[in-house]
Amino acid sequence: MLVTAKEMLTKAKAGKYAVGQFNINNLEWTKAILQTAQELNSPVILGVSEGAGKYMTGYKTVVGMVNGMLEEMNITVPVALHLDHGSYEGCLKCVEAGFSSIMFDGSHYPIEENVAKTTELIKICEEHHMSLEAEVGAIGGEEDGVIGKGECADPDECKKIADLGVTMLAAGIGNIHGKYPENWEGLSFETLEAISEKTGDMPLVLHGGTGIPADQIKKAISLGVAKINVNTECQLVFAEATRKYIEEGKDLQGKGFDPRKLLLPGTEAIKAIVKEKMELFGSVGKA
Ligand code: 13P
Repeated sequence: MLVTAKEMLTKAKAGKYAVGQFNINNLEWTKAILQTAQELNSPVILGVSEGAGKYMTGYKTVVGMVNGMLEEMNITVPVALHLDHGSYEGCLKCVEAGFSSIMFDGSHYPIEENVAKTTELIKICEEHHMSLEAEVGAIGGEEDGVIGKGECADPDECKKIADLGVTMLAAGIGNIHGKYPENWEGLSFETLEAISEKTGDMPLVLHGGTGIPADQIKKAISLGVAKINVNTECQLVFAEATRKYIEEGKDLQGKGFDPRKLLLPGTEAIKAIVKEKMELFGSVGKA
């Protein structure tokens, strides 16, 4: 059964580790992530962007697939199904479809409007026993066609949103989605520290997990980050493993063209990355 992200993140914050959010795109992605979480006895959050939701034909399909897998694969670790960077309307759709968690990304609105919309969604999430992630300070890079710069959130605005009663808070600290450019300055720990001080027990969320060096990840966790999002890295290793399979001509040998064979190396590559991240984040054995 799906659970909200509340309990797993409260435990993570207190235990000084982070739970990974891995974005899903299809059956292979979902299966690989769930299998790894179960094998490592780790809690996990499945992230679904609005674009990925559309790709999978809609949120109800996603809920059906994930719930089916939890049962058929005998998954016993805590799993949350979470909308990633949702619009207000997208959030309402996921509430209706049976997600257990949503993110409302109101970071591009003026703070007052972000507050107003987040407040409404908190009420809705309480009624439906769901967790809610809010965002302050746009996270740069490209995600579903939306491009922004890596901003640093204002700690006072973070406190304002945290005090509304959200479950977890994403705050820009110079992180961006996708690959980091050569001249990236790294995470702003000064900002993270200031946000942590103002928001107390609130689990903080680090987006753009792809390509952040391990020492910076560890430091971010020590300063209050309890959820880390990873998306691009799984896509990169999936593409690389699939390319290798084809370039080696394996699809032309025997029944190598069978999608169950063709997509296997990519699926295994996702499992390896998820394992590596769970070990780095410290969530192994914490289910
Ligand atoms: P990356 O694609 O950079 O790993 O970021 C993922 C993310 O933050 C999803 O919200």
